[in-house]
Amino acid sequence: MKKKLLFVCLGNICRSPSAEAVMNGYLKVNLLDDEYECDSAGTGGWHVGERADTRMRTHATKRDYHLTSIARQFNPKTDFEEFDLIIGMDQQNVSDLKSMARNHKDLNKIKSMTDYCTRYTHYDSVPDPYYGGADGFELVLDILEDACEGLLKELDK
Ligand code: 4NP
Repeated sequence: MKKKLLFVCLGNICRSPSAEAVMNGYLKVNLLDDEYECDSAGTGGWHVGERADTRMRTHATKRDYHLTSIARQFNPKTDFEEFDLIIGMDQQNVSDLKSMARNHKDLNKIKSMTDYCTRYTHYDSVPDPYYGGADGFELVLDILEDACEGLLKELDK
């Protein structure tokens, strides 16, 4: 059975779909895509059913990451069961996820994305790029590449 990783942000249209795409890329080149499966979700429901933000998609495509996911809201009733790791993009996401956890087993699955960073260690969150400019979207991808590299090493242990 594949291990399942869920990336979670607020809207599921910028950071978490990008994390999903970056991680899928890394799993593929490391020949681990038959062992792990990725998905993403948002704690909020405003963008459910939408494709990822156009600006986020444009920046990601330049690095050859293709954001194909459709936004959905995190579902505590099914997602805690289904996923092995549930990784929040920022501290608010992590705390929202923790407040939905039903027991210790759920709680132990919740991680913070930036904890896997080895270069961008001065960030404790992947900053929300939604209301900012182009630099914000590039920074998201820089941090996610660093974190996914660290996550891959952690999974490989
Ligand atoms: P995300 O970015 O959480 O990285 O998908 C956001 C997307 C939408 C909103 C906020 C953040 N919003 O307020 O609609």
